[in-house]
Amino acid sequence: MSTIVSASLLGCDLANLKSEVARAKNAGVDWLHFDVMDGNFVDNISFGLPVLKSLNNATDMFIDVHLMIDSPERYVDKFVDFGGDIITFHLEATKVPEKVISIIKDKNVKVGISIKPKTPASAVYKYLDKVDMILVMTVEPGFGGQCFLPNTLNKVKDIRTKINELGLNVDIQVDGGINDITAPQAIQAGANVIVSGTYIFAAKDMAAAVKSIR
Ligand code: DX5
Ligand code: ZN
Repeated sequence: MSTIVSASLLGCDLANLKSEVARAKNAGVDWLHFDVMDGNFVDNISFGLPVLKSLNNATDMFIDVHLMIDSPERYVDKFVDFGGDIITFHLEATKVPEKVISIIKDKNVKVGISIKPKTPASAVYKYLDKVDMILVMTVEPGFGGQCFLPNTLNKVKDIRTKINELGLNVDIQVDGGINDITAPQAIQAGANVIVSGTYIFAAKDMAAAVKSIR
């Protein structure tokens, strides 16, 4: 399974979004990771629909939307319309995960489910045949620049084992505290989509940082 590197824009210079996207593309990044925070589901507010629309107009890169918002069913269709290529929502944020999955899928866009560090792996098992990706948060969602939580690796392993048992083709994404040390650990555990913000955007040589993640 080849590794996909998704650059978390939360870690870039947001006043220069267009040139930061170009820098990421030139460095060999595959996807752009777009973190949406509502100040309720997480203790922070980031950016939302108008920024996604402008970003989508400015790039042909694949946009990986990570919704850290309560009741995502209210907004997912707009995140598709404004350019999201995969929409990932938090299982803890909605009472109607099946509904969220079907709104996204009906619009022919990929769908992912995310879980926070304290949510067990088994919580996603019943959705594995309905989604394209599981995002295992490797930090508490809300802020970039945090330290990787090593005990999340067992969840990656358990989910990968379950996916293999079921004979499915589901990506596993990890997000938070990813660098040249933690990325290989996550890949070893079974992750194949690696999000990185601070580590790659702050690197002196971004291409080398992306390569070290792969
Ligand atoms: C955190 C976000 C992450 C964050 C990762 O809630 O979901 O995508 O930007 O940033 P780093 O790579 O700096 O941990
Ligand atoms: Zn994220």
